[in-house]
Amino acid sequence: MEKLVITGGHPLAGRVRVAGAKNAVLPLMAAALMVEGETVLEDVPALEDVSTMLQVLAHLGTETHYGAPGRLHLTSPAKGEGEVAAPYDVVRRMRASFLVLGPLLACRGRAEVPLPGGCAIGGRPVDLHLKGLAALGAEVSLTQGMIRARAKRLTGAHIYLDFPSVGATENILMAASLAHGETVIENAASEPEVVDLANFLCAAGARIRGAGTGVIRVNGVSGLRGLRHTVIPDRIEAGTFMAAAAITGGSVTVENIVYEHLKPVAAKLTEMGCAVELSDAGDAIRVTATGTLKATDVKTLPYPGFPTDMQSPFLALLTQARGTGVVTETVFENRFLAVPELKRLGANIRAEGRTAVVEGRTPLAGAEVTAPDLRGGAALVLAGLAAEGETSVTRLEHLDRGYERLAEKLVGLGAQVKRVNVTNV
Ligand code: EPZ
Repeated sequence: MEKLVITGGHPLAGRVRVAGAKNAVLPLMAAALMVEGETVLEDVPALEDVSTMLQVLAHLGTETHYGAPGRLHLTSPAKGEGEVAAPYDVVRRMRASFLVLGPLLACRGRAEVPLPGGCAIGGRPVDLHLKGLAALGAEVSLTQGMIRARAKRLTGAHIYLDFPSVGATENILMAASLAHGETVIENAASEPEVVDLANFLCAAGARIRGAGTGVIRVNGVSGLRGLRHTVIPDRIEAGTFMAAAAITGGSVTVENIVYEHLKPVAAKLTEMGCAVELSDAGDAIRVTATGTLKATDVKTLPYPGFPTDMQSPFLALLTQARGTGVVTETVFENRFLAVPELKRLGANIRAEGRTAVVEGRTPLAGAEVTAPDLRGGAALVLAGLAAEGETSVTRLEHLDRGYERLAEKLVGLGAQVKRVNVTNV
């Protein structure tokens, strides 16, 4: 087992490049199941979740290899061929594996995918995925924990999502791309990662309009052809480094960004007193802390609202801001798991239900803390960067799922961070 040992108190400075987006590359890899011929994805981040998805795809018959660092080649079995059952032990590790359901139905007519369990941040049901696929004509059943779906032919339908679920929108969008006729998805998710998937599918020959708005129209086609596609930058990794600049009183330029995707985070940092400047080319953003941070309120919402994945990092940031910050989490039901760990560092936070009240500015003192989940782990790293003395963060497997070479990138910005083995005591 390993841990990060962080010696806080060093303002970050310099430049860091953001990798391709975890939450874009995972659906893109699932979509490659439906493509006849070779798919090449550029800017694929080196993450545990990508390795896990590669295992799922290998099991389903997709041949993959890296042509160069970050350049992933994928070739799937021809339409109607290949395994249709995803392995439980892999799906259990990563719920995004559920995104193979729509593609398998669309190109093989059958799918058997374990019902993903909940996770730390919530029950994470998939009812909207299943309702949408059933509307397209799939017969869906649950037996022994496996979702079994079959469809002789998928037929376009008018689907209204009770919640703009990212995953449900993606599963339905992929299945609808090869369905017969028109599909309309209303109250669809408009996250950039959904748009990236739609752009990928269109480049492969799909006919999709309205991605990025709440209404997506799809006219099914008979097949999708091989293509090359560059994964959009990871807006959450970018936001995490922007928050790291702010919490350490530093000045960091984050490269390889799409400013549109970062507006909610940039707006909040500006409200807190940071200087946020976009490069002339619009592909880099510099965040400079200009003195004591001012507290502000944060409410997470589906895109283009403030992203729920940035909520935990902002909990940490608000401990260093003067005043009271109220954080409301509207997307997941249990996403304040970092609070008890932040309190071990001295934070003054009261969390109740979907609201957390952060009193600042509270000096933090280093301690041993445990990452509760991916973004909670990021919050603890940020807090460690600001804490007096040494903080060690364990359960790095959470962080490795979504942050590529985090310690290395932080050291490149002047942080004192070491990744060390924990001797088995
Ligand atoms: C995606 O998860 C992301 N993961 C999450 O990122 C992100 O937090 C989330 O979208 C919201 O932006 C990937 O893209 C791989 P949802 P997803 O379906 O698709 C409820 C990270 O840290 N819901 O939009 O699972 C659900 O319970 C991860 O990178 C249903 O009720 O999110 C939740 O409360 C965490 N029924 C809300 O919708 C359904 O069928 C949002 O879920 C589906 C979802």
